[in-house]
Amino acid sequence: MRLRSEIIGCGGYLPERIVTNAELARSLDTSDDWIVQRTGIRQRHIAAEGELCSDLARRAAQRALAAAGVTGAELDLIVLATTTPDNTFPATATKVQAQLGMTGGCAFDVQAVCSGFVYALAVADNFIKAGQARTALVIGSETFSRILDWHDRSTCVLFGDGAGALVLRAAPAQGPGDRGVLSTHLHSDGRDYPMLYVDGGPSSTQTTGSVRMDGREVFRNAVHRLAEAVDEALAANRLTAADIDWLVPHQANRRIIDSIGRKLGLSAEKVVVTIDRHANTSAASIPLALAEAAGDGRIRAGQLVLIEAMGGGLTWGASLLRW
Ligand code: UT7
Repeated sequence: MRLRSEIIGCGGYLPERIVTNAELARSLDTSDDWIVQRTGIRQRHIAAEGELCSDLARRAAQRALAAAGVTGAELDLIVLATTTPDNTFPATATKVQAQLGMTGGCAFDVQAVCSGFVYALAVADNFIKAGQARTALVIGSETFSRILDWHDRSTCVLFGDGAGALVLRAAPAQGPGDRGVLSTHLHSDGRDYPMLYVDGGPSSTQTTGSVRMDGREVFRNAVHRLAEAVDEALAANRLTAADIDWLVPHQANRRIIDSIGRKLGLSAEKVVVTIDRHANTSAASIPLALAEAAGDGRIRAGQLVLIEAMGGGLTWGASLLRW
């Protein structure tokens, strides 16, 4: 029997503390005007001291499980996308597994930076399609504030902390009109490694390091590579941009989001935007945006949702979901 992954629940969590652009401008040579005009960001949430990636992940997961009506014990797979794990090892997913009361199956982390959620979703969807998992939790959780150089205005104003999660369940594939993950499309090109990286790590410096980015080059790549991935996802499902109900993009820069929306000919109301309030939460941005738009009733059952992201590696990808 052919299988598909149904989406049965979704949840998000943001740390309590909000830091505005004006607050950053008090200690940094920047301004609210510059940040808003160049990025669309107005504020970001920052994790409290001692609040870890696993804490954000657990809270988002609990909300997603509650929405799905599923207990942690019923899960047989957790794939957690993060660049900012609690520890170098073990996988943060295993800590969350224990906290949720899941004792069987397997839990592991996936690292594809800002594309992490699309990667994690692809892994979980393929586990389900292969019959290797029945009920899967896909999480994107980040404490990016911990790997920022707070003296580098070209990067530190861009990111925020948060987590989002999706619960998937195996169901028989019946054909066109099926709800769930329709397809996932992943890419990477390691030649662009130096374009966006962290200048530390266990094998190189034995320090955590800070984010370094050639923002202009990343921007240029994002615009054309994301457009290609989106076209690929639509073509694979014999759909066109006119079929899309919602574009839920990774939230890195408002100008990148607008450019993809324009290329697809989508009206602004069909694009879910959270960057103004969340900033770039890396692997968490898409599930946070999905949780917000599904939670407030914008995304409804049966609608077609396109997600896309690009991040360090470079990595990028897109996926079509029938909600
Ligand atoms: O999620 C992972 C993927 N990441 C991305 O997709 C990020 C992609 N890149 C971007 O979003 C944009 O390139 C940035 C927002 C990072 C930068 O915007 P930009 O329009 O490309 O600006 P720029 O880097 O070309 O810098 C323009 C000017 C520079 O000054 P000069 O050299 O023209 O005098 C910067 O020093 O803006 C200056 N600048 C700032 N000024 C005030 C850079 N950061 C700031 C700042 N406040 N925070």
